[in-house]
Amino acid sequence: MLLVIKKDYDAISNEGAKLVAEQVRKKPDSILGFATGSSPLGLYKELIRMHAEEGLDFSKVTTFNLDEYVGLPPGHDQSYHYFMWENLFKHINVDPRYVHVPQGMADDVEAHCEWYEERIVKVGGIDLQILGIGGNGHIAFNEPGSSLGSRTRIKTLTEKTRQDNARFFDNMDQVPKYAITMGIGTIMDARKLIMLANGKGKAQAIKNTIEGPISAMVPATIVQMHQHATVLIDEAAGSLLSEEWQMG
Ligand code: GLP
Repeated sequence: MLLVIKKDYDAISNEGAKLVAEQVRKKPDSILGFATGSSPLGLYKELIRMHAEEGLDFSKVTTFNLDEYVGLPPGHDQSYHYFMWENLFKHINVDPRYVHVPQGMADDVEAHCEWYEERIVKVGGIDLQILGIGGNGHIAFNEPGSSLGSRTRIKTLTEKTRQDNARFFDNMDQVPKYAITMGIGTIMDARKLIMLANGKGKAQAIKNTIEGPISAMVPATIVQMHQHATVLIDEAAGSLLSEEWQMG
């Protein structure tokens, strides 16, 4: 795991986009894992700019998203399908046939989760996975207590996560209670990881992730075990780290 601390959100977004672009230029048919949430938005914006101005080509790329709310149709403005199309896919030349987001409306959720896992393996595994981090240290929707070896499955969201995400819905009752999420084991199988975090609100989660013991109670701590994980944070998100890290 490599920790990179940059001045602000723009700097981590640009650095993250540079790493994704390098991957796509080196291997045009890369398998990319994408995340939702506010953290990767700047990185997506920069990828869109690189596509428009530098001709960064996504036509051969295959994508897999980390997670999706159960019960929200793809057209719902809070679904992660909608988020990805609005904030990235419709602005780049990705082939819709190569885009995968878990189906929150699947009739047989269990079968769908199995299919999702198999599909990732079938196309050759994820080359580079983008990750955010929840305020409680979750990754994707792997909440505290998730098995570190878990695979794609349905998870109950914690109250903390539902409250964190309530701002996007009219009221708390509308916030879904369940999600389909890649497991921690699924995420760890990606050949490279980029975890993004910015702002003071993530400082404690980042301190726990970087310095804490690896624990299912803070799922993000597992990135310590990944050989090619880059944790890309701004100074505010790194503000609670011990001095050794700040110096390094
Ligand atoms: C949700 C998503 C996560 C994301 C987290 C943080 O729970 N399932 O993938 O990392 O939110 O979101 P944000 O980046 O908006 O802080």
